[in-house]
Amino acid sequence: MKVLVIGGGGREHALVWKIKKSPLVKKVFCCPGNAGISREARCVPIAADRPQELLQFAVKEKIDLTVVGPEVPLVMGIVDLFTDNGLKIFGPTRRAAELEGSKAFAKHLMAHYHIPTAAYQVFDDLQKAKEFVNRQQGPLVVKADGLAAGKGVIVCPERLMAHEALEQMMAQNAFGEGGRRVVIEECLSGEEVSILALSDGEDVLTLLPAQDHKRILDGDQGLNTGGMGAYAPCPFVSETLMTRIKRDILEPTIRGMALEGRPYKGVLYAGIMLTADGPKVLEYNCRFGDPETQVVLPLIKGDLVEAMLAAIDGRIATIKWKQYASCAVTVVLASGGYPDKYQTGQVILGSDGPFAREVKVFHAGTRLVDGRCVTAGGRVLSVTALAPKLPQAIDKAYTAVRKITFDGAYYRKDIGAKGLAYL
Ligand code: AMP
Ligand code: GLY
Repeated sequence: MKVLVIGGGGREHALVWKIKKSPLVKKVFCCPGNAGISREARCVPIAADRPQELLQFAVKEKIDLTVVGPEVPLVMGIVDLFTDNGLKIFGPTRRAAELEGSKAFAKHLMAHYHIPTAAYQVFDDLQKAKEFVNRQQGPLVVKADGLAAGKGVIVCPERLMAHEALEQMMAQNAFGEGGRRVVIEECLSGEEVSILALSDGEDVLTLLPAQDHKRILDGDQGLNTGGMGAYAPCPFVSETLMTRIKRDILEPTIRGMALEGRPYKGVLYAGIMLTADGPKVLEYNCRFGDPETQVVLPLIKGDLVEAMLAAIDGRIATIKWKQYASCAVTVVLASGGYPDKYQTGQVILGSDGPFAREVKVFHAGTRLVDGRCVTAGGRVLSVTALAPKLPQAIDKAYTAVRKITFDGAYYRKDIGAKGLAYL
């Protein structure tokens, strides 16, 4: 098979790496890819948000399967476009991708199908939203309804902050059109976990539970980012808890989407808070997580491509894969200044190792200039290590990270520490 992966981050590098292991696959393409991916796949400079151009390319190359990394093309309807043109593509349709594309839609779905989540209200009117805030006690979370590149969620411990967040989103348009409508919800507390599952619209096949580290600074301080590191599996997610999450969250979501006439095929990613009242959904994503993918894919003992084809064909229940009994940790190396302004074009040294066995450097924002690998984004590399136990995996990842340098390189020093606390 010829497989096309759409996107160019660490997640897509991990996808390309895993897809290439499938005996079904002869050749992998990636649009647009990055410096690291270009060593493992043929990279073609078409941006992920150009569905028509991607379609033309896939038709010309006779691509047998397309796998979509980011949410933007999914919400734009790339799956509908490819399917209408007779091409196989793994991911939800435009109407199904609303689960991520509209937080209001996701909340209504959860309310309707009794899927545990934070109490909420949706507002289109700034004044009414502020009045609602004035009537609430305790911290609130203000969320832009639409896509906001991971920045549309503001946790507000104080009423004044909630007012400011609403002003920014609804009046000043700081989050684009997606912020004209907002969801205001109860602030939950507990341990966060990312649960990813493949679905064929009826059944789900779960991956190991992973924990992301969204804030820029150690100890979960500072600004939100796309994710600064992750590890899997999470010691605080028992098999019993996974069963409960499947029964109370994933399966009802898939059933609900089918009943709404929006059958959901692809990866369903549930961001979950493990509260004192049990697991509750913080958000859905309609795609693989980044950097979670860099830790969950290396742990799968099975053929990802076969599972994706089964999801497309409605037979995911036939796939039974095993997981390696190891732990995986990924540490993101970011450009200094990220998630605010940062420089690009810094020469990266040491990213080819030598490293210990079972260390893999996934590239994110990198590109080749005159044969040299330079930084080209906020998140630059995602250094993944596998080991039998979490402490060793953490050590191994950081040993590798310390061998890599570029001007302004920044990384968190405490990836996985929350997991250690439960051992
Ligand atoms: P994002 O992935 O950009 O949607 O970020 C959402 C993040 O905001 C989550 O990972 C949580 O840390 C936080 N968050 C979202 N909703 C809530 C909530 N209801 N209570 C507390 N924290 C929340
Ligand atoms: N790691 C968070 C996300 O992919 O949205």
